[in-house]
Amino acid sequence: MEMEKVVAAEELAKDMREISVAEFFERNKHFLGYENPTKSLVTVVKEAVDNSIEFACEAGILPKIKVKVKQLSENRFRVSIEDNGPGVVPEKVPMAFAKVLYGSRFHVLKQSRSLFGIGIKGACLYSQLTTGKPIKVTTGIGKGPIHHFELMIDVAKNEPKIISHTTEENPKNWHGVKVEMEVEGRYISGGHSILNYLKQTAMVNPFATIIFEGPDGKVVFERATNKLPPKAKEIKPHPHGVELGILRRMLSTTSAKTLLTFLTTEFSRVGKKSALENGGKLPLENVLIFRFANKVPLFYHQSDCATTEAIKEVDWRRYGISQSQGQLPAGPLAILVHLASVWVPFTSEGKQAIAAYPEILKEIKLALQDAGRKLAKYIRKKAKLRESMLRRQIFERYLPVVAECVGELTNKKAEEILNKLKNMVKSGMDESNREA
Ligand SMILES: Nc1ncnc2c1ncn2[C@@H]1O[C@H](COP(=O)(O)OP(=O)(O)O)[C@@H](O)[C@H]1O
Ligand SMILES: [Mg+2]
Repeated sequence: MEMEKVVAAEELAKDMREISVAEFFERNKHFLGYENPTKSLVTVVKEAVDNSIEFACEAGILPKIKVKVKQLSENRFRVSIEDNGPGVVPEKVPMAFAKVLYGSRFHVLKQSRSLFGIGIKGACLYSQLTTGKPIKVTTGIGKGPIHHFELMIDVAKNEPKIISHTTEENPKNWHGVKVEMEVEGRYISGGHSILNYLKQTAMVNPFATIIFEGPDGKVVFERATNKLPPKAKEIKPHPHGVELGILRRMLSTTSAKTLLTFLTTEFSRVGKKSALENGGKLPLENVLIFRFANKVPLFYHQSDCATTEAIKEVDWRRYGISQSQGQLPAGPLAILVHLASVWVPFTSEGKQAIAAYPEILKEIKLALQDAGRKLAKYIRKKAKLRESMLRRQIFERYLPVVAECVGELTNKKAEEILNKLKNMVKSGMDESNREA
């Protein structure tokens, strides 16, 4: 028998080294939503559009976003996303667009589309990985020149590489960001397509105008309102939501002198911060689920999502909707769940499904039950109306015969009697419809 070679710890230690976070995500790009060419193309657009809406709103600007997708070859595309937001100051551009885990949102507790400081860097990584080309970022801040950058990520170091940086006069004081990149991908027109992503985005962000020029032509989603939603406020953490490790760190950095001041200054006592919108009843064949988190459509991983689990756990038969035990309800139904929270627990960095924390499940179920009760009322009303329509049709069918007989018996004109009977039926029906 052969003896296993024993490897000394010193030997093993030679291979130990820190892994750059950029390298980690380059290797695991599926975490960020780049697991296949179709989804990757949508993800690139999504990351840029989410930022455009987020930061325009933040600056109090009604967003106008132009998305262009040009097919260069069978599996290669040039994508550009331009907004009219506040822009990014030039000193911050390389870090903001080409250093993974660099962003303005991670430490802020408020309802926001962005989170990790990964989004647009993921797109940049994916672009350079599949085409070897830098991304282009053009930005103006409403004063000073327009800046053009070509950026890549030094993956081993997780540092931005500035390939070029030029400036241009800005006589019209333009502000905004334009991101351009070349990527590998696959374009589809239906299903989980860029168009449908933008459509759903327009649905929940009716203050944004979104223009899409793609391989199938141009589509414009005009804004439906000129009113921006009230700005999300930053809040302090709720003691319930803070885990021990984080609490310790907060304690070691706080300036509060006593435990009482620490608790009252570093935490918020917000009671209800769960804002859940729901409802929807569209005449469709199968149940359709629309999921949103802080106004961003969730497109993939529907079956892993807390919203789907909550929908399954609701007893829809109580509201007159058919459902097999533990399954999604069936029938002409559209369910829209929007979770608004300062901290949405996504199941992964790709931000496509919400983790099924018991508190979240409970809140979604309560909201769905509330919507279910309203829906049941509506369905009952519709059934009653249909019933009374049917009754009326039956009456009307026999009226001429009745009129004729009554006419013969009373020696009056059948036509007159028929008209009177018709009026009686009509007023009777109007009455019962009013009651329904
Ligand atoms: N279109 C944009 N307008 C203004 N600022 C932007 C835009 N895109 C990105 N940024 C800045 O770059 C940072 C990094 O973006 P990103 O990698 O998507 O991370 P996140 O959105 O999670 O913060 C943002 O936090 C923001 O400060
Ligand atoms: Mg982002």
